Amino acid sequence: MSKVMLAGIAGALAAAAVPPTFNRDIAPILYKNCATCHRPGEVAPFSLLTYRDAAKRAKQIAAVTQSRFMPPWKAEPGYGSFQNERRLTDGQIAMLGEWAANGAPEGDAGGDPGAKPAAPVFAEGWQAGQPDKVFTLPEKFSLAADGPDQYRCFVVPMNLDHDVYVKSFEFRPDNRRVVHHAIVFSDPSGAARRLVRNGNSYPCFGGPGFGPTGLVGGWAPGGSPGVFAKGMELTVAKGTDLVLQIHYHPSGKPELDQSSLGMTFGEAPTIGRGLVFINSRAIDIPAGESHYVVKTGMTIPQDVEVLGITPHAHYLARDMKIDARLPDGSITHMIWIKDWDFNWQGQYRYSQPLKLPRGTRVELEYTYDNSAANRRNPSNPPVRVHWGEQTTDEMAVAFMSVKLASLADEQTFQRQMGLEFINEFLAQAEDINDFPPEINAVARARLALAIGLFDRNHDGKLDAEERKALMDFLRARVQ
Ligand code: HEC
Repeated sequence: MSKVMLAGIAGALAAAAVPPTFNRDIAPILYKNCATCHRPGEVAPFSLLTYRDAAKRAKQIAAVTQSRFMPPWKAEPGYGSFQNERRLTDGQIAMLGEWAANGAPEGDAGGDPGAKPAAPVFAEGWQAGQPDKVFTLPEKFSLAADGPDQYRCFVVPMNLDHDVYVKSFEFRPDNRRVVHHAIVFSDPSGAARRLVRNGNSYPCFGGPGFGPTGLVGGWAPGGSPGVFAKGMELTVAKGTDLVLQIHYHPSGKPELDQSSLGMTFGEAPTIGRGLVFINSRAIDIPAGESHYVVKTGMTIPQDVEVLGITPHAHYLARDMKIDARLPDGSITHMIWIKDWDFNWQGQYRYSQPLKLPRGTRVELEYTYDNSAANRRNPSNPPVRVHWGEQTTDEMAVAFMSVKLASLADEQTFQRQMGLEFINEFLAQAEDINDFPPEINAVARARLALAIGLFDRNHDGKLDAEERKALMDFLRARVQ
């Protein structure tokens, strides 16, 4: 071994022997990974900007980073690679632990001011610049000092006189102490307006309560504005209402909120996009059951590139795994969340779009814990749980936004996906007349007719063979 190398190793060992200090080692970690939420006026319960703030919580910081409870990031490494991943490295976690174990030294106190890192500066106002148009909640929403979290859908008319093509959107929480997260839907049908009871909003916990739904995007603390790639602008038809679903967490004081959504507009899209909606209603979890598994899936009818994925369930879900089984038999892991937390649901955008060839089967496997030991169980004692939109119901859903080979494929893709949706429904249905509300009246009538024709043995059900014959017939008509 050369002398230079030996000296290098000795230097590294010496550096490792010096306990980490706030100024040199810890502040940069906290400022980069924690301060977006842990600063005054933000969603986290305390600030971590100064030495005093951090030092008095050193042990707690060590514990929550060690357990990876903080920073909140649910996707397991190795199962999909995502933009803006919020994960500390093992080295950073060890450093925080060592700092706490050594009594949380500040380091260089009163000495060289240059050694003190500057607190991060966060842009006030719109993060991505002034939007072309701002849509604000029509009036202030008042939230009680305490009580359970509130999930509220606000209907905001866009008042457009022509179609627009959204280039980017930015949700701007007005009262950051109470706005925990938001999901923005678009409703061209007027269905959401009819759900409003008082003022301009209605309570909505699971979905927005109407379907089918356009999904614009979501926001959670520390999130960045949503940007649609050039050529993939989101078309929003005139007459559309925005539906802002906001999750409020009471702060201990009565609070008001009037959040808004900014949008920038661009040219009509030139690249095709589609939405894959995977959903199972076959959920019936016995009270006390701690390991209830729901499996479902969807076959992808065209070559696609998956841009992002949004798994969704309520409080009982613990583990969510989504894999893609390609036609050649290989598996692409799409996402795995081992410790689902309804409060930290997110939209996950892939760092590189995932290519899935036509015929790929996306398989979803969610596990639920309906025992009393699950501290997130909304029912105590546990009760039997079915599919539904309420806090005490469950869901097994995933949305995927995909890029298609061309703009011309969009309509066909959505029709094909509609068929795949029906196929999954028929495969799971106990009663084929119990169509989900996503299937509208006309489609129901047609489908009932088709099912009648393909029910060769007239037993009122479609067995696997009859279902395949029906699907082959329908698929041939939407190529
Ligand atoms: C995206 C926002 C966000 C980021 C980033 C974040 N936190 Fe938090 N943190 C919260 C919120 C919100 C809470 C309150 C508990 C909850 O709602 O889950 C919290 C709670 C905590 C707690 C108290 C936990 C308890 O058991 O009460 C500690 C300690 C903490 N965070 C440390 C950190 C550290 C250290 C980092 C960076 C390595 C970090 N947080 C990054 C939002 C965040």
